[in-house]
Amino acid sequence: MLYSIPTIAAFASLAAAQRPNGTSICDYYTTALLKNNTAVNQMTLLTLLVNTAVIGNYTKPNVGITVPGILAKGKVNETEVDLLPYFIGGLVSSNRGNKAVSVNFLDDGGAVPLTLNKAANGTNSAQYRLLTHLYEYFGGLLGCSLQGQDGYPKYAGSNNMGSVHKFMGLSHAEVTYFITQVGLSAASFGVTTEDVTAVGTALNEAFGYICSPPASIPASEPKEPQAICQADDCPLAANAQCSAYDKVVEPATATSSAVATGSATKVAGQSGGPMATSGAEVGKEVGGVMGVVAAAGVFAMVL
Ligand code: HEM
Repeated sequence: MLYSIPTIAAFASLAAAQRPNGTSICDYYTTALLKNNTAVNQMTLLTLLVNTAVIGNYTKPNVGITVPGILAKGKVNETEVDLLPYFIGGLVSSNRGNKAVSVNFLDDGGAVPLTLNKAANGTNSAQYRLLTHLYEYFGGLLGCSLQGQDGYPKYAGSNNMGSVHKFMGLSHAEVTYFITQVGLSAASFGVTTEDVTAVGTALNEAFGYICSPPASIPASEPKEPQAICQADDCPLAANAQCSAYDKVVEPATATSSAVATGSATKVAGQSGGPMATSGAEVGKEVGGVMGVVAAAGVFAMVL
């Protein structure tokens, strides 16, 4: 099923215009794409952005940019990347009470509800919690001004990205692939190259450097370790503060004896991917989409 956006043709020409100073990416593209800048429409924009980044293109029409999706296998500069096992409980890589456990995050419909512009079939699952947290977190990063009003709750998950991702041992290629999918998703809705590059650079700066010193993201929160790239091949942060992080251990493959807690947590093998309906182009070469130029500030500065 394709989610159609009647105003998208008008949007493509609008988006080519310069985003005014002082208007956030979220507010600008909500108006451009969905006409009225309301909390509900901001939530819809972030749902489109995140769902497309996760499962690949499912909207029509788009501006002709293919998004393979975070769940599809890909390559970053000749390095193969496969993030799916982290999301289907294939690895003992989730942090629950500072213990590594395996969690299936596609436990409530997998890709199908995402193609219907939803987070999950229901509202009480690991899938629902993760997807809604991503809508909310990225909405904060992109400056959604109406978040907190009816229809678009403020982010209620952890603000310590280092801890959330601490048992994943994510490499430079894995983090780059993820960020690239977010950028491609935005570009597929007509977000300008300038804005896509700004977001990609900000994400990379904030989360892509091992041992990055604790930072407040968003600015209103206490300082926490935020590095998501934690494997040995990750670029070292300026002012690195490795003591803020535990030593990284690469996640084990989940087995039936792996720890599993909570009703939505289960141990699963790596077969049976969720991609049957997404039409994502698996194995497409990515990389080089985003400028990896170091920027001094993070989101406050560019967004
Ligand atoms: C810029 C990069 C990234 C950002 C901003 C980001 C952000 C987030 C956020 C906000 C959450 C929800 C935390 C919560 O519910 O408290 C999350 C969870 C998660 N992320 Fe990321 N992420 C990034 C990269 C990655 C990458 C590269 C992977 C690769 C597998 C990944 C896998 C996951 C998984 C599996 C979860 C669920 C964790 C859990 O509930 O235990 N993320 N991420």
